[in-house]
Amino acid sequence: MTEGQKIKVGVLGATGMVGQRFVQLLADHPWFELTALGASERSAGKPYVKAAVNWRQTSEIPSNIGSIMVSPCEPQHFDGCRLVFSGLDSSVAGEVETAFCKAGMAVFSNSRNHRYDQYVPLVVPTVNDDHLDIIPAQQKANGLTTGFIVTNANCSSTGLTVPLKVLDDAFGLEACMVTTMQAISGAGFPGVPSIDIIDNVVPYISGEEEKLEIEPKKILGSFDQNGFTDKDFKISAHCNRVAVSDGHLECLSVKLKGSPTTEEVITAMESYTCEAQRMGLPSAPKQCIVYNEKPDRPQPRLDRDAGKGYTVTVGRVRPCSLFDFKLTILSHNTILGAAGGALMNAELAKYKGLL
Ligand SMILES: NC(=O)c1ccc[n+]([C@@H]2O[C@H](COP(=O)([O-])OP(=O)(O)OC[C@H]3O[C@@H](n4cnc5c(N)ncnc54)[C@H](OP(=O)(O)O)[C@@H]3O)[C@@H](O)[C@H]2O)c1
Repeated sequence: MTEGQKIKVGVLGATGMVGQRFVQLLADHPWFELTALGASERSAGKPYVKAAVNWRQTSEIPSNIGSIMVSPCEPQHFDGCRLVFSGLDSSVAGEVETAFCKAGMAVFSNSRNHRYDQYVPLVVPTVNDDHLDIIPAQQKANGLTTGFIVTNANCSSTGLTVPLKVLDDAFGLEACMVTTMQAISGAGFPGVPSIDIIDNVVPYISGEEEKLEIEPKKILGSFDQNGFTDKDFKISAHCNRVAVSDGHLECLSVKLKGSPTTEEVITAMESYTCEAQRMGLPSAPKQCIVYNEKPDRPQPRLDRDAGKGYTVTVGRVRPCSLFDFKLTILSHNTILGAAGGALMNAELAKYKGLL
């Protein structure tokens, strides 16, 4: 696509941790052109380079974005945008996203507010792209023709559902017990005070265990024109914040309906492919899952950038004396688990003719 043919997009919450990732990933996107940025009253009225004082990415603010004026998060300031990506704080995301949807824009949200709405799909792009097919029913229910909302999952739920999908498809999933070790970037900026996290592990993240015990059931569930039906399996989560900058590590024990060997579980992981790959989407990873056979992998610092942050690394598949198998997984929380996931969802929507 040439510059003039690209779809104009905006970012809500552009100054935050997730918003910065959106800016980074959209700077040179082949289908989307970032033309509008929104944040709170604190940032509005300033060029992005001045508003994003807490820029914490390893690359500089893209030169074509730094001069864009940050606006309040109101639809009239996003004229010409066909869609917006939202990295808004959940205290404001619900109402703001609804307003953009009603104004005719497609909204791709990272926030929790609309995740459980009857007609709103909760999409992990390498897992359940088919859930986007509910959008016409959502538009009909809301009396809208162009506006709609798509959400992506909590960052830990996202990484978790990729291997769970593989296990469920291949062997039938009965139960999962998961313990997370989550990076500090997952808490936004400034996040957890350094005095609390250095030389420490915090065994509590407000609301996180509830999300992990609900979201994978919707993501792996089914839908019809009346809404979604959860997948029936048991899941229990422990969530911890650890002194890692990016990348969530999760230790799983799973109970399966079938009785595969360890080798069969590993082969199922390695051979998993998704629709986004078959469609050849710009952000689709070469592999949805890489299996690392080294006994001390995956590790956040070494594995979070696998597939540019869109690939989940799985390791340590082994028998479990309580359930059937134990494994360790690692996913990038602000790429696949946040901005990148929403971006690939928008690519899926474009491919499916929804934009
Ligand atoms: N970080 C992750 O790994 C991750 C992963 C998945 C989902 N999420 C979700 O994504 C959302 C953003 O997370 P984050 O970590 O990026 O948070 P963050 O760093 O705290 O950023 C929040 C953003 O919301 C804006 N904002 C706050 N109050 C506002 C208001 N009243 N009106 C308009 N904009 C307002 C902020 O703008 P100012 O800078 O102007 O205050 C900032 O741009 C949250 O809902 C979070 O739960 C985060």
